[in-house]
Amino acid sequence: MRANPLAFLDTELNALKEQGLYRHLRVLDDQQAAKAHFDGKTVVNLSSNNYLGLTTHPKLEAAALKAIKEFGVGSGSVRTIAGTMAIHLELERRLAVFKKTEAVVVFQSGFAANAGTVSAFLTKDDVIISDELNHASIIDGCRLSKAAIKVFPHKDARAARSILQGLPASQRKLLITDGVFSMDGDVGALPELCAIAEEFGCIMMVDDAHASGVFGKNGRGTVDHFGLHGRVDIQVGTLSKAIGALGGYVASSKSLIEFLYHRARPFLFSTSHPPSVTATCIAALDILEQEPEIIDRLWDNTRFFKAGLQKLGFNTGMSESPITPVIAGEGSRAMKLSDRLFQEGVFAQGIAFPTVARDKARVRTIVTATHTKDELQFALDKFDKVGKELGLI
Ligand SMILES: Cc1ncc(COP(=O)(O)O)c(C=O)c1O
Repeated sequence: MRANPLAFLDTELNALKEQGLYRHLRVLDDQQAAKAHFDGKTVVNLSSNNYLGLTTHPKLEAAALKAIKEFGVGSGSVRTIAGTMAIHLELERRLAVFKKTEAVVVFQSGFAANAGTVSAFLTKDDVIISDELNHASIIDGCRLSKAAIKVFPHKDARAARSILQGLPASQRKLLITDGVFSMDGDVGALPELCAIAEEFGCIMMVDDAHASGVFGKNGRGTVDHFGLHGRVDIQVGTLSKAIGALGGYVASSKSLIEFLYHRARPFLFSTSHPPSVTATCIAALDILEQEPEIIDRLWDNTRFFKAGLQKLGFNTGMSESPITPVIAGEGSRAMKLSDRLFQEGVFAQGIAFPTVARDKARVRTIVTATHTKDELQFALDKFDKVGKELGLI
């Protein structure tokens, strides 16, 4: 029998186990909700991106079922062949109005939207100036584009500016940041970066995956929050987090969107959304427009929980959003914190290197609009107990 050529992977996995960094995938037994059943245990769920609780909203479920009855379960093709359905275009029109841009194109995921867009319109002759904590999908898009990549320290607009000062005026430049950073929950330096982009003639791009449905009027995102409409050339959003379903989109000029139809590889080479997903997203936009109080509930819970963690004495970093990290230091310590919380009935995922820096491992908490105050207080009590046990507070 031949030797297993993949045996080296077992060595790698064993090393992760020895370092306490091996990830066991927790299994959700029923719905993605504020209180949920993972691995057969009922826990207060602080690990989803289901900010507004829309994954189980009756109006979204009804829209999905109606679309299945009317249009079937699949689109059957990529967008550029036979897979552009009228309902896809309806969602894109709705999103363009929502984001106040000329046009929108929807991708299969936020990851595909970022990676597919950055790699489509830049070439090896161009340069990308990127925040060091930008999401992996941006980083992969940058790498695929083959453009030069210049990374500036997190949120340091002055450093971004000095990088730009050293570049030839004629070179095409993309300045790119997350709107909300997914691991720290802080907000990108958008106003400063927009000013710099204008000064140096850069294309300005913001990934608002965690801000859409959360920041700005009716959840329009950080561009709306900072009053920067018309000053950000490309906005990416996701339909997989606050919107509760699946997908990503690019909101921009008609020309960029038409260009992406021709050059964005996930658009060209991967099947479009099932109509049920698209109908769900349209129903979610209705909710954002008609019931914005759901966003107020999210922020009320955010303030309550964040203040509670800080009062207990945890290091919660610089978070300004419903994402609140509890920094534990070493990876194995964060994993231990997460495991002990789970035993106590609270699910807050441990996150370690390479997702975050080696000495900044953490559990990441995300509250939603649908958590009750009792659930959040229960979680705070458990953080208090386990934090003391592990010497974190
Ligand atoms: C900042 C950021 N951008 C993009 C994405 C990708 O979005 P999606 O889950 O829709 O692929 C994520 C998801 O983790 C994210 O955190």
